[in-house]
Amino acid sequence: MVFAAEARTLRKQLSDVALGKGFLLQGGDCAESFEDFNAPKIRDTFKVILQMAVVMTFAARCPVTKVARMAGQYAKPRSADFEEVDGKQLPSYRGDIVNRFGFTEADRMPNPNRLKDAYFRSAATMNLLRAFAQGGLADLHEVNRWNMSFLENNPQKELYVGLAQRIQDALSFMEVLGINSANTPAIYETTLFTSHEALLLNYEEALTRTDTISGNWYACSAHMLWIGERTRQLDHAHVEFFRGIHNPIGVKVGPSIKEDELIRLIDALNPDNDPGRLTLITRMGADNIGAKLPALLRRVKQEGRHVVWSSDPMHGNTVKASSGYKTRDFDAILKEIREFFQAHRAEGTYPGGIHLEMTGQHVTECTGGAYKISDDDLAQCYKTQCDPRLNADQVLEMAFLVAEAIKE
Ligand code: PEP
Ligand code: CO
Repeated sequence: MVFAAEARTLRKQLSDVALGKGFLLQGGDCAESFEDFNAPKIRDTFKVILQMAVVMTFAARCPVTKVARMAGQYAKPRSADFEEVDGKQLPSYRGDIVNRFGFTEADRMPNPNRLKDAYFRSAATMNLLRAFAQGGLADLHEVNRWNMSFLENNPQKELYVGLAQRIQDALSFMEVLGINSANTPAIYETTLFTSHEALLLNYEEALTRTDTISGNWYACSAHMLWIGERTRQLDHAHVEFFRGIHNPIGVKVGPSIKEDELIRLIDALNPDNDPGRLTLITRMGADNIGAKLPALLRRVKQEGRHVVWSSDPMHGNTVKASSGYKTRDFDAILKEIREFFQAHRAEGTYPGGIHLEMTGQHVTECTGGAYKISDDDLAQCYKTQCDPRLNADQVLEMAFLVAEAIKE
């Protein structure tokens, strides 16, 4: 799926992020699905990532590295082995790479052929993403035009329109100087890296190769892989597998982690203390982050360990709405992001990125945002096969608000 040198390029960019010279934007579906595997859906998520990145690059005056949760995000860890509906109990859905979402015994039966189905869909998704990135869809003029039209109807337009207008002015200014899409690749094309949670080690191992140039092992299913919160035990198989690959890697860090445990995890995964190797993706929850994160930042800094700190403001803020849907509130997500920035400022460490579950579609899965989606609205367009995602409007608003935080 990917070439080892691309993974090295990402690792180099992430080392700039670790040193405070860049920002990481990672996002996509909670779980990709076989049903939603089509060009318009892939395009729309790609577009929205680009739109966010432009806003953040401009406001923060620093390069934004874009990493999609796409082209391989098909396996889901589950907290419970079984799901119960109306007294009937069936094995949990574990992502389209394992079984089906429907609630029948046949749907929930794992089928190994799905490993191949996921692989071929990932390859086709990757192919399309490369075409979009290089073929003109990522042209900055287009991207800012989408942002302007997104703002047209937004109830909180006045908060954002100034920034979008300044980007427009900058592009016009460059145009006058003769710097345009026809002669400047940086305006016309972009690089989008891919990532997923490497949950299924048999799948990952089958795609792991020795790179002929460096002689090192690379997991070639994506540029970056991460270890989930449920599988990051020091003496378990995921840490052991990740120790052996040379990709840039991530690990989710939830509120239960102890400071010593985190240092041991860092040492296992990044023994050379290479700044671009390891991204710690914290997912504490809006109500826990203030109490948990500062001590971890302090300790990692004290021990002189170089990492990228990224905030996943989604997984610690999942709640059940009165309507029964699993949801997340825009304000809780924003609170976690804000406190992430505040904690870093207080500790003198660098807030390097955000990790979002999002889609380019106009779904109603998370409450809040400028359009004030309520619990009662969730049923209108609730499509996710796993966790609730920010929709195109919510995620762009988030980008404007995060841009402000980065600037501060
Ligand atoms: C996820 O990123 O979809 C996920 C399951 O996260 P976590 O491992 O942090 O719970
Ligand atoms: Co999720």
